[in-house]
Amino acid sequence: MRKNQAGQAAANGYKIIVVDDEQGIVDSLSIFLKRSGYDFTGETNPLKAIEKVKNEHFDMMILDFMMDPIHGDEVVEEIRKFNKELYILLLTGHKDLAPPLETIRRLDIQGYCEKSDKFDQLLLLIESGVKSIEQMHTISRINDELKDSKEQLEKAYLDTIGILRHTVEAKDPYTRGHSDRVSEFSVLLGEKLGLDEEQLHQLKIGGLFHDIGKIGIPDSILLKESKLDDDEYSQIKNHPMIGVHMLGDAEIFKDIIPIVKHHHERFDGRGYPSGLKGDKIPYHARICAVVDTFDAMTSKRSYRDALPLTYVIEEIEKCSGSQFDPAISSVFVDILKNDYSSIKKIQDKYKSNGDIANIENWK
Ligand SMILES: [Fe+2]
Repeated sequence: MRKNQAGQAAANGYKIIVVDDEQGIVDSLSIFLKRSGYDFTGETNPLKAIEKVKNEHFDMMILDFMMDPIHGDEVVEEIRKFNKELYILLLTGHKDLAPPLETIRRLDIQGYCEKSDKFDQLLLLIESGVKSIEQMHTISRINDELKDSKEQLEKAYLDTIGILRHTVEAKDPYTRGHSDRVSEFSVLLGEKLGLDEEQLHQLKIGGLFHDIGKIGIPDSILLKESKLDDDEYSQIKNHPMIGVHMLGDAEIFKDIIPIVKHHHERFDGRGYPSGLKGDKIPYHARICAVVDTFDAMTSKRSYRDALPLTYVIEEIEKCSGSQFDPAISSVFVDILKNDYSSIKKIQDKYKSNGDIANIENWK
């Protein structure tokens, strides 16, 4: 009695469909399974059984092997095309040949047993099946919870990015077009350099935020059209570190800090803020440095038009090895010479919204 109660507790709520072309077997199993506490559905036509599984949820299928018009393994084959979750037990008659082991494995049939007048062996298989189903449910619930929290985290991340971007744009209308272009130029260059998806994502976000520290620069300097004096220029040079302090404590931005901090380093070590040299400069920052300067040179200014492409290419080549990592700038020059339409597409997509005061002030 106690054992039966325990079995019923385990059976609660589990839906089993029995498919056997012998009505007698379906009837016996109906009595037996209902008595054991399962939610029972019987079907003598294997084709109709497939339809039922398509339209209704079942936890488990108990399936005869030798049936007309199709055999049990064919039923499973059809079901597996649209349902990989259903737990399937195959029943074989005394005189039947069981399907080959290979077939059982391939179709993901979880167990099989011979038909018998007693259902003891079948009941044990069903009970162990129910345990597996419970474990599957637990795993899938945990996966769903993990997915939900990951999605929430990503949403919070994107929201944070949105707020920060709007803050910078409110301060300096030039930044929007510039940052978007630097972001996409960096990704384009990163692709040509063979970087993986994760690195390209870091370049994308890093490009959007490389100048975020400009928020901390007084407007009188930020928007000044004439040449800056030494004191003003040294304040400008604070913007990478201001950006680092702004983003510094947020775990989600840690991967883009190197870009924010080091995009004004020079390959020869004469840049700022750290005076890093060569490959001591983070790779992503070296990429950003090339496209950042390119965008500054090719943007229209209140006091001049965009510089001509041939001049810009010459400048980048001239600065290769001094300002820029030659291995990176040469690939970018190659894009400019041979794939300029990709650059143009980005320029057209993010037309400059305003003017930076004096390009020389931002080199
Ligand atoms: Fe900058």
